[in-house]
Amino acid sequence: MAAIEKDFHGSVVYQVYIKSFCDSDGDGVGDLPGVTSKLDYLAELGVDYLWLTPFYPSPQRDGGYDVSDYRAVDPAYGTMADFDELVARAHERGIGVMLDMVLCHTSVEHEWFRRALAGEERYRAYYILRDGRGSSGPGDPGQPPTNWDCAFGGSAWKWEPRLGKWYLHLHDVSQPDLDWTNPEVRAECAEVVRFWKDHGVDGFRFDVVNLISKPEVFEDDLCGAGRRLFADGPHIHEYLRELVARAGIGDMLTVGEMASTDLANCVRYTRPEDRELSMSFSFHHLKVDYAGGSKWELMEPDIARLREIFLEWQEGMQAGGGWNALFWDNHDQPRAVTRFGGREGVGLRGSRWDHVGKMLAICVHLMKGTPYVYQGDELGMVNPGYDSIERFRDVETTNYYQIMLEMGKGPEEALRVVNERSRDNGRTPMQWSARPGAGFTEGSPWLEIPASHKLVNAEAEVGVVGSMFEHYRALIRLRHELDVIARGSVRFLDAGPAAPKVIAYERTLGEKRVVVACSFDAEPCSIADLGVSGAEVLIGSYDDEPPAGALRPFEGVAWIM
Ligand code: NOJ
Repeated sequence: MAAIEKDFHGSVVYQVYIKSFCDSDGDGVGDLPGVTSKLDYLAELGVDYLWLTPFYPSPQRDGGYDVSDYRAVDPAYGTMADFDELVARAHERGIGVMLDMVLCHTSVEHEWFRRALAGEERYRAYYILRDGRGSSGPGDPGQPPTNWDCAFGGSAWKWEPRLGKWYLHLHDVSQPDLDWTNPEVRAECAEVVRFWKDHGVDGFRFDVVNLISKPEVFEDDLCGAGRRLFADGPHIHEYLRELVARAGIGDMLTVGEMASTDLANCVRYTRPEDRELSMSFSFHHLKVDYAGGSKWELMEPDIARLREIFLEWQEGMQAGGGWNALFWDNHDQPRAVTRFGGREGVGLRGSRWDHVGKMLAICVHLMKGTPYVYQGDELGMVNPGYDSIERFRDVETTNYYQIMLEMGKGPEEALRVVNERSRDNGRTPMQWSARPGAGFTEGSPWLEIPASHKLVNAEAEVGVVGSMFEHYRALIRLRHELDVIARGSVRFLDAGPAAPKVIAYERTLGEKRVVVACSFDAEPCSIADLGVSGAEVLIGSYDDEPPAGALRPFEGVAWIM
């Protein structure tokens, strides 16, 4: 099966969270045949690649990012034959398939960990095992080796009597970290990637890959919970180069999920001469509404800060020769439309919801980098607004809900916070239609379908002039048709003192110039002269042209000259 060859600079990737995309057999969980059945939809949208989140066997403690076998398909999602069929049918439509490689940790149910538990030295050496602090000898755990926290709350270390050691887990307790200093681990991981390459896939997304190289010395973090000590570790660039070379994927689309990273490292991860990855995801722009830096403390998004971050990453990656993955949403994020615009007008053309969704899409799709559409973005899907903690499934959410209660928040307040911040906000079933089950399932969905599916759904939008879907389709087409968008240089513009919540930038290539201005303001505002008078409007979030020198609430516009 020949891989798809595309230039990623001019491409758009669509992310499928398989569990919630399309259920073909009525068990309430999405599956591979379900994805195959929707390829015509993706072709109509016009995307170039489809990134599939993990579908490997997994106990599902962390939505499939706890892999128990890297080389198989979980029966809940189908068979290997279903997978091969999906790749073949995607290729027929010119769509490449990218897989998610979760190589920082395994599940405790992975054979390697089981064999470590059984005492096999070879496999004990696959994981990061340490003695406890203050331990009096074998059998006495003592205290965790460092004060690092895991991503989902609580210590990053677990005492395991069968190992006689503490093992490191930067995520859930069921996700022990692999020891990448061990050459056998690195070789095994490269073999896993090669296995899927040989199945004809076209690219890879590497999960939290900048956490694979741990610090040389394990010590307490005196100003935090450890993350800054173990992100972008000492051998990370060497390990990535080695992985890419060994697996033979240097010509494929590769993207690294980079947790708590910085610009200098992302330049190195992605500039072509280093032969690491094609592009990187960074997350700083999605923390502008974390009060005091905490995901679980709410505040209004700080748009001035958002602008600074985009400016730094757009112009900085360009200056260093790196390449950004561009996105608002994924399976770990609440829906950006709710986050930046609230709940007003959901599903109604010309409403705040409509303007916010379209403006957000303009804002990232016309930047320099490769845009990622997360399933349902193109419909304007919103957070579900669940009425009870019982509705949530995500391990991070349920852990932090308890932590918030322990820290003194009342149940109502804690529910309000998870309704804004839970990863389940982005994981609700895809809204294909207004019918019960939202066209996602004929059975009982694994996660409750939001009431909004009655208004916000594919059936109501595909082919409907002025819909969110058609807006996304138009943006994707613009990237395919205009070199200035795919390849032009980027420079941020100052929209003036009366427009503190406007993000503006220009893209230029030769004589061509595209100017983009996006207002995150719920009030109208005047904007400085961006040199666009008389220019043609390329696309906008309102149906009609913007007033001269001003933007309406949540208006996004691009002009071309
Ligand atoms: C990032 C993934 O996107 C997330 O869903 C997962 O929980 C962590 N990595 C751990 O694998």
